[in-house]
Amino acid sequence: MNIFFEYINYRWNAKRLHGIHSPFVFNFMKDGMPARLTKESEKEILTFAFKNKRDLKVVNVEDHGAKSKKLKKSRKVKQIFSTSSSFGKNGKLLFKLCNYFKPKSILELGTSVGMGSLYMHFGNPESKITTIEGCPETYALAKENLSPYPIELINNTFEQAIKEFKPQKFDLIFIDGHHDGEALRKYMGLLDLYSHDNTVFILDDIRWSGAMHDSWKRLKSSRTYHLSMDFFRMGVLIKRPQQVKENFILKLKR
Ligand SMILES: C[S@@+](CC[C@H](N)C(=O)[O-])C[C@H]1O[C@@H](n2cnc3c(N)ncnc32)[C@H](O)[C@@H]1O
Repeated sequence: MNIFFEYINYRWNAKRLHGIHSPFVFNFMKDGMPARLTKESEKEILTFAFKNKRDLKVVNVEDHGAKSKKLKKSRKVKQIFSTSSSFGKNGKLLFKLCNYFKPKSILELGTSVGMGSLYMHFGNPESKITTIEGCPETYALAKENLSPYPIELINNTFEQAIKEFKPQKFDLIFIDGHHDGEALRKYMGLLDLYSHDNTVFILDDIRWSGAMHDSWKRLKSSRTYHLSMDFFRMGVLIKRPQQVKENFILKLKR
């Protein structure tokens, strides 16, 4: 996969409002995309980000996913933050999706330092958020970072944690770890039991590798998911069996 070509292709085809014939997607782009964090939430996000951006503490990383393309086993928090956190426009997309769809329950696979969890919390403070992190030292860091917020953290591998879930259905699931195409499809399969027809699946790094991109293409063209929204780095899938199959390439608004 040529990422430069992919980006040009995305920019050429991405739509904002014009040409979106699905009322469901049109309404999200019209009413959900312009949403902004409140001044207080923005301040908390920036304080959280700058604290981690400057943190020189070293963390011994236990890697349960696809190995980092850039980092060694011992990493400074500031390096972890800058290479793996959803900050800026992608964090804001998490905020906008949670703010618009108002999910009662959210599951995040891959907490890291907790940046994505915080954007989702501000999107809908009423959501019950559960987030899973496999690395014990990263988990401890996130637990401290997220202690002021009502977010449940689990220290386990994704597969084991999902196998230990009590029966429940999540309204929004954010998969952001173990960026391996086959693993992504495996987690989507395991999560079928814990999702419903309108669960919003957000997949991160759909163009991280050829295998991740292939899995994204296979999932969006499968019979299971009738709606896909491609935001270049993140992709959204919803089953919505009530509608005809539609795939959209959409522009992100800051
Ligand atoms: C990209 S980071 C998550 C970023 C975070 N979601 C955000 O939005 O800021 C991925 C995290 O997933 C964890 N991880 C990867 N594979 C895992 C697995 N199989 N089980 C548990 N944790 C895993 C890694 O330790 C890493 O901290």
